[in-house]
Amino acid sequence: MKQEDLLALLNDMTPEEKIMQLVQLPGSAFESDFAVTGIADEASFDKLKKLAGSVLGIRGAEKVKAIQDEYMAGQPHHIPLLFMLDVIHGHDTVFPCPLGQGATFEPEISRKGAEIQAKEAAADGIQVTFSPMVDLVRDARWGRVMESTGEDPYLNGEMASAMVRGYQGESVADKEHVAACVKHFAGYGASEAGRDYNSVELSEYTLRDQYLKGYDKAISAGAKLVMTSFNTLNGIPSSGNKWLMRDILRKEMNFDGVLISDWGAIGEMVPWGFARDLKEAAKLAIEAGVDIDMCTESYAANLASLIEEGKVDGKLLDEAVLRILNLKNEIGLFEDPYHGASKERYEAVTFSKESREIARDAVRKSLVLLKNDEETLPLKDSNIALIGPYASCKNLHSSWALSLDPEKTVTVMEAAGESKDVSLFLGMNQGGGLGGLNKKIVRVAKGSTILDNDTVLGFGEYHNESLDEENEKLLNEAIEVAEWADTVVLCLGEDIGQSGESTSRTNIMLPDIQMELFYEIRRRAKKLVTLIFTGRPLDLECIPDLSDALLICWRPGTEGGHGIWDVLSGKFSPSGKLPMSFPWAVGQAPIHYNVFATGRPKPTEGVTNFTTRYLDCPNEARYPFGYGLTYSSFDISKPVSDNDVLKKGENATGADKINVTVKVTNTGVVAATQTVQLYIRDLVSSRVRPVKELKGFKKVRLLPGESKDVSFEINEEMLRFWTINNKFESEEGDFRVYVGFDSTTENFYDFKLS
Ligand code: NOJ
Repeated sequence: MKQEDLLALLNDMTPEEKIMQLVQLPGSAFESDFAVTGIADEASFDKLKKLAGSVLGIRGAEKVKAIQDEYMAGQPHHIPLLFMLDVIHGHDTVFPCPLGQGATFEPEISRKGAEIQAKEAAADGIQVTFSPMVDLVRDARWGRVMESTGEDPYLNGEMASAMVRGYQGESVADKEHVAACVKHFAGYGASEAGRDYNSVELSEYTLRDQYLKGYDKAISAGAKLVMTSFNTLNGIPSSGNKWLMRDILRKEMNFDGVLISDWGAIGEMVPWGFARDLKEAAKLAIEAGVDIDMCTESYAANLASLIEEGKVDGKLLDEAVLRILNLKNEIGLFEDPYHGASKERYEAVTFSKESREIARDAVRKSLVLLKNDEETLPLKDSNIALIGPYASCKNLHSSWALSLDPEKTVTVMEAAGESKDVSLFLGMNQGGGLGGLNKKIVRVAKGSTILDNDTVLGFGEYHNESLDEENEKLLNEAIEVAEWADTVVLCLGEDIGQSGESTSRTNIMLPDIQMELFYEIRRRAKKLVTLIFTGRPLDLECIPDLSDALLICWRPGTEGGHGIWDVLSGKFSPSGKLPMSFPWAVGQAPIHYNVFATGRPKPTEGVTNFTTRYLDCPNEARYPFGYGLTYSSFDISKPVSDNDVLKKGENATGADKINVTVKVTNTGVVAATQTVQLYIRDLVSSRVRPVKELKGFKKVRLLPGESKDVSFEINEEMLRFWTINNKFESEEGDFRVYVGFDSTTENFYDFKLS
């Protein structure tokens, strides 16, 4: 539809029709009857269903088409309904959770993943996905760190813009793509004490310099929607924050798409004590520029009277409606209200061999090897025990893979069993001891349940069975298998319900029942490889010290087992790097590598009194951002540069850009991929700067003995920050550039900006 036709349509709509475009209903409104949903009274429920502009949570091409047909027949101008869903890390083919994707340090794999998710979801009736989540996360107590790509603004920005490009493709009108919704604007990851839905206090400096950068990149990549966050920011709930939404998001970031509230967030201004009632909340939200009210009645019930009473300018309503109509138009709904959804197409494209292969590749690249003493991995022995509740667990996805069928997930046990050189047996009662010539024998034992009795999970679930007897049996079986084996692979982890929304924890350790299993097995195992399935950095207690090898597997998705077995068996050398610091203890939270310099830095050696430190714990992470081993070893040269001076102003001396180069050598005996990371520190500046900031990374695959030069370009723009003048600019002076394999690198080179 042409812009003038959209405007004509807008002009022809009644105020009620307009307001209802701003209303989003939950899927239950269309799937159940009034009595079940309990939304409003019966009369307003019918009106909502007839006129609401969008819905979330419905999938299935046939269902979507039927709902769309009925809706459009009743909508006075036959304006199509918009269907949205959280497709976060997969629709049918599920990729590693976003934190795991961050560990790949490979935006392209996330772009491809988003493209596949879009293709599957669009064929299944989805037109908008509530992804990517670009919240900067530094506090592992917050369960939603799993949905982010980590603690670094640069990495987050690269990953999020790749995801936006993957979801949206060249055009969202394309039937294989969906519109992306960047969330949660802004600062949701900084919820105080890591408690979900809590308030956020951030200085404007930190907000702009670190927290807003990722969203900005995703928006610049063309995301069509942005979602407000649940938190307050310095006392103001995001959905009512005019400065944040109008000045920063719309004006500074040039966002002209649709701004949607998070679920119920407009209404939450009432319990926050920021609005007297839903009517005042509606006024605050529309004035802040929130176009769609997700699942409250604030807009539906109040916008008409607010406009009639002259309390809200009707122009704001028209602007919001136009943005929503524009989005529907861009998606092509006026021409094809199903956006290409069809059962046949869905069946043809979904869970394809090619998609699963890409997901498998993403898994392999997301695994982070934290320890590998005496080359315990890849597995070499022929008697292997695969123990632990995650050995055969089908729940390898996260709480946000809403449409997946867990039966399609390949477990570690199944992947091992598929391998031609493996004979797989359950426990000690099968197999008589021989696997066949040149074959590994893999014996599996669950060992324990995932959870302790009476554990509270996300979304209000409880795990309260009494499993003591079952666990005793499981443990005894596992002990037998461990005693038989030459190497034990112990698969431990958090439960699926322990990370995601509403899963904040003050204890970020594994459940006691699994730690008991760990000790019992450690005591018996000749060699112990521990695999950790998790949505957040954990306090790993004694696991790293007592394991011979340690591999972080995140929540790897449907191809989890395959990707993990590829790495365990040595077909693929691990290359993942931590996107978030793993602490020594939860008391370090929030912890991140890019901290501000302090006036009393702790000396690396000697007396540490009256310096910034803990008495009982290092300042640094146990495993830092950017860290991860491979099956090989690498050397890196000192950085060399083609110039020591970077030019700033028109008349300055120096070069427009300088190139910094290191030589990287694979000094081991297997081919492997290393991630070379570039960090910069501004040594003296008008505001205290982080001790290091990631500014670039490159993955390089090298054969044994092979060397390659890896170069990074540094330009003036990379040195800008939110200065004392309250603008982004660079300041002349000295800079230190570090190039290494993780954020603790001391391999540096100094240059000047003048
Ligand atoms: C609430 C979550 O915070 C948000 O991330 C999600 O997209 C919406 N619910 C819709 O499911």
